[in-house]
Amino acid sequence: MTEPELFDVMFSTRSLRRLQPDPVPDEVLYKVLDAGIRAPSGGNTQHWRFVVVKDPQVKQQIQQIYQKGWREVQALYRTRTAPAHMEEGKFHRLMDSAAYLAEHLAEVPVLLFACLKERPMPPDLAAKLARLSGSSIYPAVQNMLLACRALGLGATLTTVCSLYDDEIKAVLHLPSDISTYALLPIGYPHGKFGPVKRLAVEEVTCLDQWGTPLPRPA
Ligand SMILES: Cc1cc2nc3c(=O)[nH]c(=O)nc-3n(C[C@H](O)[C@H](O)[C@H](O)COP(=O)(O)O)c2cc1C
Repeated sequence: MTEPELFDVMFSTRSLRRLQPDPVPDEVLYKVLDAGIRAPSGGNTQHWRFVVVKDPQVKQQIQQIYQKGWREVQALYRTRTAPAHMEEGKFHRLMDSAAYLAEHLAEVPVLLFACLKERPMPPDLAAKLARLSGSSIYPAVQNMLLACRALGLGATLTTVCSLYDDEIKAVLHLPSDISTYALLPIGYPHGKFGPVKRLAVEEVTCLDQWGTPLPRPA
C-alpha cells in the first residue's frame, strides 16, 4: 500500500474507536513507535517511555480502570451541552463512540501507553511548569496518531485512564517516576478515515493582538 501525503494524513486523522480485533503486525507497530520518537522534547531529553499491551488479561485489567475513569468523565459530560460549534446530534454520536470504546477496550489488539519519566524539580519551578507537563510527550503522541493513519490503522488519543494513574502503574509495573499521559487503542478500523472538521483558522487566530482576526487569504 502506498502511503498518503502528509497533508492528506493530517486532514483525515479522526479518532477511530470501533476497531477490529485482528492483530497489528509487529513491524507496522514498530514503525508507529519509530515515528513517535522522531518528535521533539524539551531539551531533547527524550524522557518518553512507551508500553505496548497485547496480553488479553492485562488488557482486561486496563479496561476495568478505563471504564472507571470513563464513568466519571461521562457523568461530567452529561451535565453539559454540546460545544457551541457542534450540533447536539454530533455530540451524542461522539459520546456513543467513546462509550463503545470503553466497553470494548480489551478487544482492541494494541493498547499503547505513552508515558514520561518525571524529573525532580524545585517546587517553585514545578508550579510554573505544571501547565507544560505533557508538552514533551504529546508531540510524540500526535506523530504516532498520524503514523497510524498513514499505515491504515485506527487510533484515538485517550486520557481517562490517567485519572487512575496509580492503578495503571500497578498493572503495568511502572516505576514510581514514570507517569502515564495517554493511552492509544490501535487496530484496523471498522469505520472510515476523515475528513476532519474544525473551526476555521480565522475563527481561532488573531493578527498581532487579541481581537483582530487573521484575514483569510484571497
Ligand atoms: C487531550 C485529549 C484527551 C482525550 N481523551 C479521550 C478519551 O479519554 N476517550 C476518548 O474516547 N476520546 C478522547 N479524546 C478524543 C477526542 O474526543 C477527539 O479528538 C475529539 O472529539 C475530536 O474528534 P476527532 O479526533 O474524531 O476529530 C481525547 C482527545 C484529546 C486531545
